[in-house]
Parts: sequence; C-alpha cells; structure tokens
Amino acid sequence: MANETSTQPAPVHSMDEIVALCRRRGFIWQSSEVYGGINGFWDYGPLGTELKRNLKNAWWSDVVTCPPDGPDGRPLQIVGLDSTIIMNPKVWEASGHVAGFNDPMVDCRQSKARYRADHLVVLQPAEGATNADTPWYAFVEGQLDSIAKKLKKAKVDPEACQQVPLPELPVASYARIIGPDADKPGTLTEPRQFNLMFETWIGAVRDEDSRAYLRPETAQGIFTQFWNVVDTSRVKVPFGIAQVGKAFRNEVTPRNFTFRSREFEQMEIEFFIPPDAAAEWYPWWRDNRFAWWQSVGLAGDNLQLREHEADELAHYAREGAGTSDIEYRFPFTAPGFGELEGVAHRTDYDLRQHAEHCGKGDKLRYFDTDRNERYFPHVIEPSAGADRGTLALLCEAYTPDPDRPSGVYMNFTPRMAPIKAAILPLVAKDGMPEVAENLYRQLRRRWPVQLDVKQTVGKRYARMDEAGTPYCFTIDGQTLEDQTVTVRHRDTLEQQRINIDQVPSFLEQKIEG
Ligand code: GAP
Repeated sequence: MANETSTQPAPVHSMDEIVALCRRRGFIWQSSEVYGGINGFWDYGPLGTELKRNLKNAWWSDVVTCPPDGPDGRPLQIVGLDSTIIMNPKVWEASGHVAGFNDPMVDCRQSKARYRADHLVVLQPAEGATNADTPWYAFVEGQLDSIAKKLKKAKVDPEACQQVPLPELPVASYARIIGPDADKPGTLTEPRQFNLMFETWIGAVRDEDSRAYLRPETAQGIFTQFWNVVDTSRVKVPFGIAQVGKAFRNEVTPRNFTFRSREFEQMEIEFFIPPDAAAEWYPWWRDNRFAWWQSVGLAGDNLQLREHEADELAHYAREGAGTSDIEYRFPFTAPGFGELEGVAHRTDYDLRQHAEHCGKGDKLRYFDTDRNERYFPHVIEPSAGADRGTLALLCEAYTPDPDRPSGVYMNFTPRMAPIKAAILPLVAKDGMPEVAENLYRQLRRRWPVQLDVKQTVGKRYARMDEAGTPYCFTIDGQTLEDQTVTVRHRDTLEQQRINIDQVPSFLEQKIEG
C-alpha cells in the first residue's frame, strides 16, 4: 500500500487526540487491555460497535438489498454469503496465498524485533559518503521520533541526513546500519519472505495433514461457492456475491491504531461478468464505490480515487487489468493517503484456479444461456475494510471546538451516528422524566437513542457532542403546557421547537430521508 506514512504533521488534529477520545468514550479499546493488550488486535466498545454496525449495515443495504442500477440501467443482482473462516487448505494453494502471500522481512539479531523491509527507512548522515565507519540509522517509516534519543547522543541531525528506503540499499551495506531497536550496527538480517497467513491445526494431531489457515480475505469463500450460488439462486451473469466477515493477517508491523490490524473485517463483493465486459463494469464499480464512501460522510478533500501503477498490481491481475484504490487522508498518512477499499478486475483467475485445483477443470465453466456460450466469468472485486472505514469516519467526524464544554464534537452523518438522538428532561421532576421516558420508549423501537436524566443539561449536551449524537430533544416546562420539545442541532447548536408527536417523523427524515 503506497502513501501510507509521512513525517508531515497531521493537517487538522492529532491522531493521539482521536485515539484518546475513542478510548474515553468507548469507541475502540485495545483487545485484552487488562493484560496490557495484544499488538494488532482491537475491541469496539458500545459506541464503536454501533458506528461500525451502521457502516456495515449501510454497505449491505446499498450493495445487496438495494444497489444502484447497473450501467445498462437495469437493477443489479447481488446475493449474500456467509462462509467459514477456516476452509480446506487447498483453497489457499489454489488462490496463490500459500506461495505468494508474503512480505519481505528483516530480523534484528540484537533486539529480536522483526520488521517489514519496505517499512524501514535508513538515515544516512552526510559525512557517511566519505567515511565508511559512519553508521546509518534505520527507523520504521513515520516513526523517526522513536530513534530521536539515539540520534541526539550521536550528535546526528536528521534534517541533515538523506533518507533512503531499506529495500533500495544493497545487503552488503547492512553492516553499517543500526536497527530501529538496536544500539550497534550490523544486526539486521537480509530480507526473508514471511507468509502472512495465521496457521492452526484441525483435530488432535498437529502435523502437515492437519494444518489449516485463518482466511486472509473473505473473497475465497465466495469463489469456492460460486457454483452453488449459480445452481440454487436463479442468478445470471452479470451478478454479484457479497460477504462481510473477519479476515486475519499476521501483519509484521501492525500500526496506526486499527488501520493495520491482525484481525479485521472486510466487506467484499465479487461481481461476475462476461469475459469481454470489464471495460463496462470496472469503471462503473470504481465510480459507484467512490460515491458510496462520499455518501456515508467522507465527502471532502480527504477522500481520493487512485488508479494503480503497473508495478502495484496484485498477483491475480493480468497486464492491462484495472485496479484502483479508494483512499482516505488519515492524520497519520497526511499529506498522503491510506487505502480504504480496492476495486480490482481480478480476471477469471480465481474461478479457473479453483476449477483446476479441484480437478473438474473446464467442466466448471459457466453456461451463459443468452450467449449460448461457456466461459469462466471475469470478476470485478470491490473489497473494503470495515475497520478502516470506521476509522476514517472517526477521523473525519472529529471536530475541535474550543467554545464547547466538551472542546470537541463528532459530526457523524445521522445515518452513521451511533446514537441517533438523546432525550433529556430539563430537570428530574415536575413530570418531565415521565414524558421523556414515554418518548424514549417510542423512539428506541426504531433507533438507538438514549435517555439521559442526570446532571446539568449542559453536561448532558457535552456527552452527546463527544458521542456524535446529531439531535437532542429536551423536555421542559413548556412541553407540559403545549406538547412541544426543543430540538438541539449538534453541528449548528441551533434550537427549534417542534411538537412532540412530530419527533419520530423528524428523525426518520433526517436519518433515512
Ligand atoms: N480480496 C482482496 C483483498 O483482500 P486487500 O487490499 O488485501 O484486498 C481489502 O484488502 C481491504 O481490506 C483493504 O482495502 C483494507 O480496507 C482492508 N485491510 C487489508 N488489510 C488490513 C489490515 N491489516 N488491517 C485492517 N484492514 C485491512
């Protein structure tokens, strides 16, 4: 993934502040935090769970239940699938993951740390050009600060150094490199391939025959069930199969909060088309997926679409096949961007591979009744990350505002907001709590809403601002007289009065309208 990190400052606000809010308000926590956490694994708290669920539900609703019309103006056919995380290991031989799902790694013989070679940058002091004894200093891209003490002690000014990616240096020069966590040169090994799939064993005996893998992508579940879907669902090419589910990758350097995790969730569509139809469908999917991310709240300059260069294409992509990334400018990638979703023309690679590896070969070609022709369909694959999407929503929503008691508010769209509305009796007496509870009971049947009775109304607004609740309905003395409530709009702080009976239709229009 290109453009992931940079030493530039974040454009608007720091990632540390966003991470702190996520922790404080229960969006995201370290997995097993009471034991000190576990690197690359994250849990979603109550607010984070709702936020991520909203994103996944919106995806399902907008691509499976009610997708946009296709390029021919006809309704799209997309069906769902829920396949297993552990599959027959032959799947991963056929897909190319056993042989090819590798990252080049270097180990440090002194610190025992392991790094992705393409994540290491080497600082070369200017005098090193003339003096071969001058050491060079490696650091993990974007984490120059982590070797600041070492550089200060050696009186090395990083500004006066050249920065070179490790893979561009000959292995012979590693003898003069001090690793990110080492204090003497020459401890980095030459790069070795490391397979990213997590392994496990099925049954009581742990040997080659019982070895299995946790899926590194949900896509292969879809490819291997393609034939069952065709035989049972009355779908005809062009059609899609969609799946949301966990994927696992033993990332060497998990980092940037949830961005690069070892356990994460994907939202994938494999869209099957005739072999000659990619020119029509690939740009259609690319543009529609970009528009979808805009629709959930990533509408500004922080979202971009980027076509891949030829040297970035994945192992299944043939020359000329289109691949693009939908990218978001996260605070830790700024001014660069990080990938949210890839849209790839995967050709007929996967279906052919599975047909060959299972021994049925050409017999598994799809029969197109309209064309009276057999073929392996080509695939356009929009593959998105639910965790990266959630993280982008959090970063985009984070809006510092020194004039508010909370100092910040989260401006999620009403559709994405974890809590859609709060119902606040102004004081906990005079019949106001009862009216509030009635409204709460009515609204919670349809949406996640909160009844908050305790503390001053200002403090309650502040809590809702941090949670990103778009509307607060306040029940006050006037409500008891004329059945109106105050609506407080989170972003503008505007207050309006509406009749209490209109609250459900008001919310419906804002969330679903
Ligand atoms: N089936 C194609 C595929 O898996 P990918 O680009 O490797 O393609 C798709 O992954 C999406 O999954 C990415 O765009 C990203 O959003 C998400 N993803 C991949 N690796 C991830 C990781 N280590 N942590 C969080 N999300 C990840």
